[in-house]
Order: sequence, then structure tokens, then C-alpha cells
Amino acid sequence: MIFKKIIVTFLVLCAVTAFAQENLIVNTQNRKQVSLNGTWHYIIDPYETGFYDYRYKEKGEKDAEAYWNNPEPNGKTDRKEHGYNNDYSIQVPGDWNSQDDVFKYYEGTVWYQREFDKPKLDENERIFLYFGAVNYEAHVYLNGKKLGMHKGGFTPFNFEISPGMLKDKGNFLVVKVDNKRYADEVPTLNTDWWNYGGITRDVKLIITPQNFIQQYAIHLKQSQDIEKSLKRKRFNISGYFKLNTTAAEEKITIEIPEIGFKENVDIRDSEGSFDLEAKKLELWSPENPKLYKVMFTLGEHTLTDKIGFRKVEVSGKDVLLNGKEIFMRGISIHEEIAPEIRRAKNSADADKLFGWAKDLNVNMVRLAHYPHNEYMTRAADSLGLLVWSEIPVYWTIDFKNDEVLEKAKKQLDEMIIRDQNKASVIIWSVGNETPVSEARTKFMKSLVMHAKEKDDTRLISAALEVGYNRGRNYIDDPLGEYTDIVSVNEYLGWYGDLPHAKVKSKWETAYDKPLFFSETGAGAKGGFHADKETRWSEEFQEWYFEETLKMMENMPENFTGLSPWILVDFRSPKRNNPKYQEGWNRKGLIDDKGNKKKAFFTLKKYYEKKEEEYKKR
Ligand code: GCU
Repeated sequence: MIFKKIIVTFLVLCAVTAFAQENLIVNTQNRKQVSLNGTWHYIIDPYETGFYDYRYKEKGEKDAEAYWNNPEPNGKTDRKEHGYNNDYSIQVPGDWNSQDDVFKYYEGTVWYQREFDKPKLDENERIFLYFGAVNYEAHVYLNGKKLGMHKGGFTPFNFEISPGMLKDKGNFLVVKVDNKRYADEVPTLNTDWWNYGGITRDVKLIITPQNFIQQYAIHLKQSQDIEKSLKRKRFNISGYFKLNTTAAEEKITIEIPEIGFKENVDIRDSEGSFDLEAKKLELWSPENPKLYKVMFTLGEHTLTDKIGFRKVEVSGKDVLLNGKEIFMRGISIHEEIAPEIRRAKNSADADKLFGWAKDLNVNMVRLAHYPHNEYMTRAADSLGLLVWSEIPVYWTIDFKNDEVLEKAKKQLDEMIIRDQNKASVIIWSVGNETPVSEARTKFMKSLVMHAKEKDDTRLISAALEVGYNRGRNYIDDPLGEYTDIVSVNEYLGWYGDLPHAKVKSKWETAYDKPLFFSETGAGAKGGFHADKETRWSEEFQEWYFEETLKMMENMPENFTGLSPWILVDFRSPKRNNPKYQEGWNRKGLIDDKGNKKKAFFTLKKYYEKKEEEYKKR
């Protein structure tokens, strides 16, 4: 009997987690909501005592000693060996590592708990519990009942709360968060970034009508000839709607008031896809990040969003935005606020990081190595920054494991569904520096094809491997056959040889596609000055960039830009030089105190020159 129960539980769990992305609600910031951000209570539970009994079996739902059950003692004789109180408080959103030294290196389970009162609901309204992200595995319980679980540290998820589950006052919400690393997860055991754990992004109750638009995409139709559309000032826009249930209504009205656009989409027999024509659209670009208020009406409910329209494509060796060749003046960024040593999590953090990026005169950011919080992609939309967005298929993933491929695809779906209406996002990256093998290329090709199927309006890439072994920089990574652009991380002069070797190096690709440097960089301890050959000095890093920029004067004509590694120094447990690193990766152009290093200005000057050059084209 017990065996059958375990099988049933497992199947139910798979069902809940397997389709999490299908139930994902997008554009939550413009929906009716109640924030659950703020002070929660916690229990650190490295032995998972709150989840398993002393025979290491998962505790039953009603087990009074399970940490998802309210531990209020029933009288003075009652024995309770867990509890939540204000002496153990933690802020949400936020990684736990930065909130108390006890968490700095912690990898394991932390139980989060808070209470909330039932919000006022109109007739037939529904409630969903939404998490911007939890790193890495979350099990969510309400009033002792399991709502579901989610794996993946950087993408959103939500669970419906059926009205019967809610009390008027004091609903007991518990989340088991576990950030332990495993070989068969995404990412795997080995990463060059800090494993910040916790409920790292916003938590909110989303309140919806009985029937509502759960997901949608609206963009310029990829197949249109953009030159012709620009000339005629008439554009094809297409996309789809996904309702949460089959609606009684027969149509959704799309309005873009600024251009007098109002069209009905019949949702009776199609899956809600549409192909319409809009006049007088002003296209989005870094130079003119035009966003329109778009309104979607289903029945008597209207959902608004701010959306830009643009077309990105590859034409031979070039990347075109709205039909014009672009050069990507990029910078790579981790989702981290260095001075406070914590995960970035809100719009102020996005403004800070992008403020520095704009100082550098970039038109593009590589949000490495995982989907950043939605404040970043919303800010990129309004600031006019092209975005490379990536899932953490990083280094030595278990490529032979089909379940790992499903985990990667699920994170890819969640990333695409959340941000497919952000004009700034032009590249979906399916991974970074994965070692070439037959299994790896099959795994990665499957991700590339899956991304193309989900979204034909963006370029698909990954940081590929460089075949230095031929005594020249020859890029023939087999995955390059499937990606739209050929991107590589190059470190000549830092990992091997010295910067002056760069100018002699020639680059060639086995693919007639745009070539992009997704990383290039060198380390320097901010404020350490010496002659340029002294490793870790700011002068060495400056020399590296000077030589890199010289090398880029002789790049092949398919060279379409770079996103140097990296905007700001970031924490990494792999960087342990006791004098220059101390747990920091020092390749930032800005140090962990927010001071710009000399190389920052070298790159800035180069970008100013490139901007002028492309303005004249
Ligand atoms: C790699 C990797 C980065 C890493 C960097 C470095 O290319 O993609 O995540 O931090 O190199 O070595 O600093």
C-alpha cells in the first residue's frame, strides 16, 4: 500500500511541476495583486528534519512535527521541537547569504514562514501565489496543505489557491527552500558565481477574474519585409493569447490608443493566435526605445502592458535591427549588487547596474548566466538596451541525462514566456562554454531547436568553444551549425600568453554567420597600481583591453560586437588568491566598492568611436 502511495505522490508532484510553465501568469506587475514581500520567519534545517522523519521518510501532511504545520503548542504539556518567531526574521525578496553571516556559505534547506489575511475578493475572482524566483528548489505549503514545488533558481512560477483553502485571518504560508547543488541539475555542481539561496525575488498574490489572459505574445511578424513595411508605414503584427480556462467570451480586443489601433481577435476556434496590420508604428531601437501602451480586453476586464515593436534578424554576416546593420557595444552583467554583496532584486538595483552600463556607452547587455529579475528586462526596454538572456546550462551539465534536458527546456520555456514581449531581448542563449562532445551537441541542438519553435522573433545563441588547438583562433564548434550567431568567450592574454600576443592573432569561423565575443576580460584589484606587466594591477587590465581593441581592428567582416567580462567584480567561491581575489572574481571594469578601474575608460572610448562610426552608415 505504502509503495502505491509513493508512486501516486510522485506522479502528482511531476504533474504539478512538469506543467508549471504552462500555468505561468505573465505581466504580473499590471495585474491586481497583494505583495507578500517583507519580513518572514525562518528555520535553518541542514538535516531537513522538517521534511523527513527519523527513518528519512517524507513526513505525512498532517504530521505535527512537519515544519509546514503551525507549531503552536496545544497547552503546556505539548512537545514542539520547531517554531517560527521574530527572533529568526529574514527579508523577502533577498538572498539569505547577505542577510546574516550564518548564511554566508550556507547550502541547504531554509524554511520560510509568514501569515497573511485573505484579501477582499469580488464575485468569482481567483487567487494565485506568485514567486519571481526561488533558488533553487521550492516546496510551497498553505495552512498545512502542499500547493506544489518548483525547481530552477532564476525563473518565476505560481500556484492557484482555491478559495476553500483560505481562512479570513492568519493564513499560514511556508516555503521550503533548498539551494544545494547537484550534478543532475541546471546549473550543475560547478559555477563561477556565488550560490545565493533563498526567495530572491518578489512574492505576491495575483487576483484574477474567473477567465483571464494568462500568457500572450505580440510582436512584429518575423516574415515581413521590414524595409517595405517602413516605407508603407504599415506593419504586420502577430502573436497569440493563452487563456487560463476556456472562456465564455468569444473575442479579445487589442488596443494601441496612441496609433488608433483597435482590433478583435476571435478566440472561439483558434488557439487565440492573430495576424493583424498596424499603421504608423514607431519601431523600438536603442536610439529610440519607443514603448506603446497596449490594452487587451477580455469580457469586462482589461490588462495593459508597455510594449515595443522591432525586428531583429541575421542577414549573411550581419545582425540587422529594423533592417539596419548593428554593432553590439555590450557588457556582461551578473545579477549582483557588489558593495552589499547580494543578489540584485528591484528596480533601484536595475537602475544602478544599467546606469554604470550606460556610462560605458553600451547599447547591449549580456545578462549572465541565468535569467535576471524582470526589473532588469523592463528597464532595458525603457532605457534602450539590447539584451542577451541566458539559461544556466553552464560548463559540465549532465548532457547524457534526458531528465536534465527536460529541466533545461522548462527553464528555457519559463524565461521565454516571461520576457517574450520585451522588445529589448533580442538573443536567447541556451548555454555557456559547454565542453564539446556528441552528447553535449545533441543536448544543446535540442535546446536551440526548442527555443526556435517557441519564438521565431529572436536570435538563438550560446557561448561556444574556440578551437585554439590549430594554432589559430578557429571557431568550428559543431553547435555553431545551429545557432544564429557564433559567439565565443575569448581570453587570449589572460588565460594563456600575455596581452601583446593578441594583436598577432587572427580569427576565423567555420560558419558564414555573425561572430560575437560574448566574453573577453582580465582581472585587476581596484586601486592596485603598478607597471602594466604586473598581474592584478589596473594597468595590466588596461593593457589587456588596449591590446584587445587593437586585435579587433583586424577582425573578419562578420564581427558584430562584444560583451566584455564583466561590468562589476562579483563573488565566486572559486577565486581564492588571498591578496587580489579573496572570494571575488576581479574581472569587473568596476570594483566591488563601485569604483571604475582604468580599463573602464579604455572600453568607453572605443564604444564612443564605434557609435560614431555606425551613425555615419
Ligand atoms: C568563463 C565563464 C565566466 C567566468 C569567466 C572567468 O568564460 O563564462 O562565467 O566567470 O570565464 O574566467 O572569469
